[in-house]
Amino acid sequence: MARQTGTFRITKAHGEEVRAFLPAPLPPAGPPLDTDAVADALRQAEDAVARLAMAGSMVPDTEWFLYGFVRKEAVLSSQIEGTQATLRDVAQFEATSEADRPDDVEEVCNYVEALNRARDLIANPTGLPMSARLLCETHKVLMKGVRGAEKMPGAIRRSQNWIGGSRPGNASYVPPPPEEVPGAMAELDRWIHSEDPLPPLIKAGLAHAQFESIHPFLDGNGRIGRMLVTLLVEHWGLLTQPLLYLSVAFKRRRPQYYTRLDAVRANGDWEGWTRFFLECVAEAAEDGVRVATELHALVARDRRAITTNPGTTVAAIQLIDRLPSQPIVTVSSVVDLLGVTAPTARKAIEILEQAGVLRETSGKQRDRVYAYEAYLSILTGR
Ligand SMILES: Nc1ncnc2c1ncn2[C@@H]1O[C@H](COP(=O)(O)OP(=O)(O)OP(=O)(O)O)[C@@H](O)[C@H]1O
Ligand SMILES: [Mg+2]
Repeated sequence: MARQTGTFRITKAHGEEVRAFLPAPLPPAGPPLDTDAVADALRQAEDAVARLAMAGSMVPDTEWFLYGFVRKEAVLSSQIEGTQATLRDVAQFEATSEADRPDDVEEVCNYVEALNRARDLIANPTGLPMSARLLCETHKVLMKGVRGAEKMPGAIRRSQNWIGGSRPGNASYVPPPPEEVPGAMAELDRWIHSEDPLPPLIKAGLAHAQFESIHPFLDGNGRIGRMLVTLLVEHWGLLTQPLLYLSVAFKRRRPQYYTRLDAVRANGDWEGWTRFFLECVAEAAEDGVRVATELHALVARDRRAITTNPGTTVAAIQLIDRLPSQPIVTVSSVVDLLGVTAPTARKAIEILEQAGVLRETSGKQRDRVYAYEAYLSILTGR
């Protein structure tokens, strides 16, 4: 079915004439979204998200997952952009806080901090509601530091941008002219807070596509747009933790991800986009359930091994409880983490190493680094 989802504006960018697209405000109109056409995908996505919510509530301490899930999403979301940092690099950096942080690790850490900042602002009564302003605050954190400096962190763009291609004239997509962006974002805010009866998962998908069409920032639109989904899923009460990480699914089907977004503008195919989005949600949620279940089983098994170990210490037990949110440690990070002396920390690490929980990874005699390998392997899918 063809429908018009916006209008084109002829504008000048870099000396050439281009057709910039101005998306019509949500919801899809003329005709409205055909929810029957996406009903199966919706049911599967909703079921999978409900199972993920349950998996999240089954663990004694959600920090267990949260650490891994948020960082996994951060790593993958940043990898779509081309950042090379791995989950291990990030965990190791967090344990050792080496003085100079590589740019790619900084980008992933910024992503984690940006998501935390957004969630804090929303949770705090004196913070900010779900809004363009909130996304700007989030963008400021995401883009801080070396690589993002000239990308106007925290600010809506004031120039024409384009996607794909070396210049606006050969771009695969030219988003709206800068003067239209504040208005388009305000419309998006208004719709998010409207009483639109569409199911929340569908709305989250529409919001993501609309955000990508507006492309309000000079850079980081993909990451902020995916974070928007995470925040909306929480805002609309489907999950109480940011456990849904879409980047795995989007990354796996990147060409389709882009084609589906293009088809919304080219043919007004909101149904095709929505179905694709819901399939990604289902896949991400199922993956999340599997990872959560495996992590839970692993930590329970290892904890039992440590608590029943005849030579165990209080610090060793405390350490295994902290490992899920700190899967790479050093003697000094354990000293800080548990507030114990260096010999006590060393002993605790030794017990965990002998039990096969921790493994030394630096190969050095000094400044040794210990990783909870099995845990990291589950998260990275290897
Ligand atoms: N044809 C398209 N139409 C609309 N949006 C698109 C299209 N192709 C890509 N995008 C979106 O633009 C994002 C890239 O924009 P940008 O570089 O500003 O974001 P990023 O966060 O730095 O990058 P990335 O998402 O690649 O990590 C993609 O992730 C995708 O969400
Ligand atoms: Mg980019």
